[in-house]
Amino acid sequence: MTAITISDQEYKEFCRFLESQCGIVLGDSKQYLVRSRLSPLVNKYNVSSLSTLLKDVVTGRNRDMRIAAIDAMTTNETLWFRDTYPFAVLSEKILPDVATKKKPIKIWSSASSSGQEPYSIAMTVLETQQRKPGLLPNVSVTATDISTVMLDMCRAGIYDNLALGRGLSMERRRTFFEEVGDGRMKVKDNVKRLVNFRPQNLMESYALLGKFDVIFCRNVLIYFSSDMKSKVLNQMANSLNPGGYLLLGASESLTGLTDRFEMVRCNPGIIYKLK
Ligand SMILES: C[S@@+](CC[C@H](N)C(=O)[O-])C[C@H]1O[C@@H](n2cnc3c(N)ncnc32)[C@H](O)[C@@H]1O
Repeated sequence: MTAITISDQEYKEFCRFLESQCGIVLGDSKQYLVRSRLSPLVNKYNVSSLSTLLKDVVTGRNRDMRIAAIDAMTTNETLWFRDTYPFAVLSEKILPDVATKKKPIKIWSSASSSGQEPYSIAMTVLETQQRKPGLLPNVSVTATDISTVMLDMCRAGIYDNLALGRGLSMERRRTFFEEVGDGRMKVKDNVKRLVNFRPQNLMESYALLGKFDVIFCRNVLIYFSSDMKSKVLNQMANSLNPGGYLLLGASESLTGLTDRFEMVRCNPGIIYKLK
């Protein structure tokens, strides 16, 4: 039987590695999480124990294993139109505001997970165009994530019944998806065309992504240290065009992290505008 116990020392070294690579802070007592998420890799990579796997990952001996371990430690929980208000505010306030510049509008979904967020943004854009013909110039959505497994799911755009049932109305299902069999549905091409996908670690430079009018940075900062949150938020401020908007997760805030944004109360919800 494969050993899946790890010593305190091995756990601490892995935590240091994970935080330095992707910002994720595990805290003192998440050994169970490391065990449950990394044990499948012990068999996959045919190593003798979890301790050996951790050593190979931390020392970088095996690049694939290192990437797979980071992937396995990310939390990818997501749903369609999460929290509702960000998409209503995008449609009713943000898009009409940035459209006054009469330039192509660029939106960044910066932790896209399996695609529900960027595709919800694209559907919101299409619905807004339908309601207000002629309002919006070209709109594009750039979806990024550190996880290549998640990005592959985004690109495929195919979802099972369980995923489809989380936050998607029947009307949106009918409008924006087509059946592919086994109860699964695929995002239609007119939605897909608006979205491009690329890998991006939020700890690294965003310079190559260009500038955006709106950034969704939702439900990812919660995993980072305060220091890392500040760095990410200040870098995002630098990636926004003048007057650009930032949307955080419902439980996240900028307090004590950056002074580059002003708070805009939308009732319900809070968004942030570049100062
Ligand atoms: C909980 S999901 C949030 C998905 C979506 N934004 C939402 O609100 O539903 C968090 C995502 O952040 C990604 N992530 C974690 N650390 C990251 C990093 N350093 N750089 C980029 N993405 C990261 C994970 O891979 C995961 O897909």
